[in-house]
Amino acid sequence: EKGGYKHFMAKEIAEQPGILKDTLDAYVKEGRIALPGAADAALPFADLDRLTLVACGTAHYACHVAKYWFETLARLPVEIDVASEFRYRQPPLPARSMALVVSQSGETADTLAALRYVKEEGVGVGAIVNVEGSTIARESDAVIRTLAGTEIGVASTKAFTGQLMVLALLALRAAEARGTLSAAEIAGHLAALEAMPGLAHQALQLSERITEMSHALSEARDVLFLGRGAMYPLALEGALKLKEISYIHAEGYASGELKHGPIALIDRTVPVIVLAPRDALFEKTVSNMQEVMAREGRVILVTDAEGAAEAGEGVWHLVRMPALPDPIFAPLLYAIPAQLIAYHTAVAKGTDVDQPRNLAKSVTVE
Ligand code: M6R
Repeated sequence: EKGGYKHFMAKEIAEQPGILKDTLDAYVKEGRIALPGAADAALPFADLDRLTLVACGTAHYACHVAKYWFETLARLPVEIDVASEFRYRQPPLPARSMALVVSQSGETADTLAALRYVKEEGVGVGAIVNVEGSTIARESDAVIRTLAGTEIGVASTKAFTGQLMVLALLALRAAEARGTLSAAEIAGHLAALEAMPGLAHQALQLSERITEMSHALSEARDVLFLGRGAMYPLALEGALKLKEISYIHAEGYASGELKHGPIALIDRTVPVIVLAPRDALFEKTVSNMQEVMAREGRVILVTDAEGAAEAGEGVWHLVRMPALPDPIFAPLLYAIPAQLIAYHTAVAKGTDVDQPRNLAKSVTVE
């Protein structure tokens, strides 16, 4: 049932190109975004002043990435929160707003409570869920399914990229509805998403390279992940994945925050993983990276060939990613090396990858 893989997590990481393709096949028809009919009617993007995205854990980080996409592409203000805070914070929800909750299992107690709160406030709520017929799917006004199939590993991998693909398509649909992008621009972004399954397949070929590197990483007690823009939430996700299955303490930071505190931690013993595709903010991230190296910090740079040529010198390890046609969607692709780093580090440490201690696949109590 593990299809020849040692762990479900490895199998699920490897399934991602196919899942991305299935998602595109299901929700893009003849070059246009085609959401399930009921969902399209329930998502009045043109009339919204604000979108609220609520979830827990990895699903929350998918929302955090999507905030960048909705705001950049559709100029739609997005509020994000973790469900356990949102449900008790009980924030006022503007009339011209709606919420989306995101959940792999569709059973997470806090996310369900957040959904119920939104409904009580009389605001529309849609759900992006992986498990059909789950409680969250049943209680929301509209459901868009992620097509990741059954995810068994406690560490979420394919559900995350499945969520990101759906959210990317929704952000483009919102841009279309709000007239913030031309038809040609939308077609260009869609073409970039269509390239993702092939690029994800290429990224999986890095597994061997990452295995070697992860042996060294498994010796660390603390690890930092840095990213900017939409790669910042991916840094948070990379850190979550690493701590969850390898039990190494890891933290994600927005690169620009480094000098506001965490740089005090840097020395030879704290590896810093920099997630930096060659994009408009690359130079800024590189200067943060150099600050780390000037303090003898050991950097693992995950970037493309152009980024490597520009900034690869002197780093501890380089993970060379395929180049992206559209760097805005980089988190979809860079999720793969982040997952592989966590996976191979955990394997090197000999922890229980699929069933990490103290964790359950679905958190149905608060
Ligand atoms: O089923 P859900 O997507 O609602 O679960 C949310 C979180 O519990 C989940 O993503 C958790 O953080 C994962 N173990 C992370 O890998």
